[in-house]
Amino acid sequence: MMNNSMNNSMKKIIVNDEVELSQVVSELIVRQIEEKSDSVLGLATGKSPERTYEKLVQYYKDHKVSFKDVKTFNLDEYVGIHVESHESYHYFMSNHLFNHIDIKSENTHLPNPMMPLKACCEAYEALLAQQPIDLQLLGLGTNGHIGFNEPYVDFDLGVHVIELSEQTRQDNLKYFQDHSEMPTHAVTMGIRNIMNAKKIILIVNNEKKKAAYDALMSGVITSEWPVTALINHPDLTVVAVKSVVGN
Ligand code: F6R
Repeated sequence: MMNNSMNNSMKKIIVNDEVELSQVVSELIVRQIEEKSDSVLGLATGKSPERTYEKLVQYYKDHKVSFKDVKTFNLDEYVGIHVESHESYHYFMSNHLFNHIDIKSENTHLPNPMMPLKACCEAYEALLAQQPIDLQLLGLGTNGHIGFNEPYVDFDLGVHVIELSEQTRQDNLKYFQDHSEMPTHAVTMGIRNIMNAKKIILIVNNEKKKAAYDALMSGVITSEWPVTALINHPDLTVVAVKSVVGN
């Protein structure tokens, strides 16, 4: 593992592989909860945080951390998928984390696109306004999305409905047995919501993310690569596997 200071206050942690990545990220999350037992965590789904959640469950089982006062807000949820179906992000979170730790279900939040979408976005925005996020965990899309803020999104948007890009739909088809069920839209926190988090951890887990990672490291903020919005964040830690970073 190697620590580098970047421009501004961006911290970069380069790890050998996804196992080491999950070790580093889970320790950062546990440290956050040790410092503030009622931390508000912003959470992501997908491959990037999967092993990290496994480690957090293990820490909980080993009595090294408790989530009893922790609150969580997920980044996004698909539109048109029942929240109880196995492809939903609600299901992902219950299955990988919430069902295995002592978090109170009323303290876990995801957008609920089964509601009328305008009301869904407004309700989630209102909840986020009441509960500033202490630590936001992010994965990175091949096309540079964070949450589901796809290329050319308006960085000033709060919680909103977005049309998924062709790239994202291709990347996520693998989670759908019936490919025709792959959603076209999602509800996502906006870049504005993400930037409000006090601290951010960005996971860069494999070499498919290299172009997006390079865009972030170039230091140029552009809506073509939404991840570059994070360049302006005062407390960003990027944890990346070394195969992404290159020489
Ligand atoms: C998921 C999310 C997305 C993913 C990104 C990477 O809640 O907001 O931005 O983090 O698409 O996905 P994986 O980790 O599956 O490569």
